[in-house]
Amino acid sequence: MTTDGHDLASLGQRHIWGHFTNLSLMQRIGLPVIERGEGAYVYDANGKKYLDGLSGLFTVNIGHGRTELGAAAARQADTLGYFPLWSFGHEPAILLARRLAELAPGDLNRVFFTSGGGEAVESAWKIAVQYFAKVGQPKRRKVVSRHFAYHGTTLGALSISGIPAMREPFEPLFDWAVKANNTNRYRCSSCANAPACTLDCADDIERRILAEGPETVAAVILEPMQNTGGALTPPEGYFARVREICDRYGVLLVSDEVICAFGRLGHWFGCERYGYQPDMITFAKGVTSGYAPLGGVIASDRLAAPFIEGDGSVLMHGLTFGGHPVSCAVALANLDVMERDDILGNVRRHEPLFDSLMEGLRDVPMVGDVRGAGYFRVVELVKDKESKETFTPEECNWLLRDVLSPRIFNSGLICRADDRADPVLVVAPTLVCGETELTFVADVLREAITYAAGQYATR
Ligand SMILES: Cc1ncc(COP(=O)(O)O)c(C=O)c1O
Repeated sequence: MTTDGHDLASLGQRHIWGHFTNLSLMQRIGLPVIERGEGAYVYDANGKKYLDGLSGLFTVNIGHGRTELGAAAARQADTLGYFPLWSFGHEPAILLARRLAELAPGDLNRVFFTSGGGEAVESAWKIAVQYFAKVGQPKRRKVVSRHFAYHGTTLGALSISGIPAMREPFEPLFDWAVKANNTNRYRCSSCANAPACTLDCADDIERRILAEGPETVAAVILEPMQNTGGALTPPEGYFARVREICDRYGVLLVSDEVICAFGRLGHWFGCERYGYQPDMITFAKGVTSGYAPLGGVIASDRLAAPFIEGDGSVLMHGLTFGGHPVSCAVALANLDVMERDDILGNVRRHEPLFDSLMEGLRDVPMVGDVRGAGYFRVVELVKDKESKETFTPEECNWLLRDVLSPRIFNSGLICRADDRADPVLVVAPTLVCGETELTFVADVLREAITYAAGQYATR
């Protein structure tokens, strides 16, 4: 209830245009209103408790209700509520840039701040294009990303994103963003049945570069572990091969770590886990654990050099709220919590348990595959385990939206049912979870999928 006596859910139904939200469905079933959070849990406006199995949106890495982040925001707002990074600096941005440079591998030392992830991806693209123009390779403008990868929704980032349903209403998009195969070993057309991955997925990036003409390609943008398609982990040797390919053709490698950084995979950055050195890292989400909006690009010294040593020409790009002082202060407090509470260690310590809990779901009807790493896992659902036959779009809609989502939600777990590629249930709990919470996740999934399989059989 609002203080003037209105029901929040009804007000939300009337006035909120939800992101990727089926407004007509919301008119029918109501808008869930989340009121507060504490640790791994959130509570709705009726006081019901849920395990936040998606960390908000892969974001609340240190968990909910950390008062020290609010206190850091208040202190900074009292001292300097806003100032831009357009030819000025301020303490929180400077200290955060230094800290990120210290955490990032190799010579990734210069930070361009944004307000979120999509802006970070577009900024990396612009940095790459303008860098190449400055070093005498102005034809290099294209970018290679992977089918079904999600890199944001603004038109530049959407061009890089590879999800057909999201692109379709806005096409034609930039045709200088081309797509290569992803690393879905479960459904790989070339090696799903081979004893080991042949790295054809990595070689497909080389084929794309050659088809476009290497002299026109600026960057390859990849997540360490791809979200859409369902927690697509890189096969052994994948990133070493990709790095070789990028070096062979003088193309920059951008690691889009909007989800995979800040502990999600048990490391500060996903590229550390998979042992590769990118030329740029894009980040957002977990840098503040979502307590304030912030993102950015950490670029190598090599990319910044022509802007420092050259004729003084400027990166033609800027955002009013990029590196907002309050957000940077919150990020610094967030990194303090991560270090003090050994959040990365918590993920690493519990990984074997999470592995076995998730692997244990393979015997559940309809579970075709179980994948992921760190605190980011999926279960892929299939009609037939043997043939891997998937569901029709109509069946998917029924299974995910009518049966599984309400069942899981009513059991007190928030997770994502995703059919932007093959249907998967996605869990990415906050990084403070331990045995109790991870076991709860697996138990709820087992019960709900078993129930849904029964419903499907008698439908
Ligand atoms: C890998 C990746 N890149 C970019 C984005 C876009 O970030 P934002 O929603 O902050 O624009 C996302 C969002 O989930 C993402 O997962």
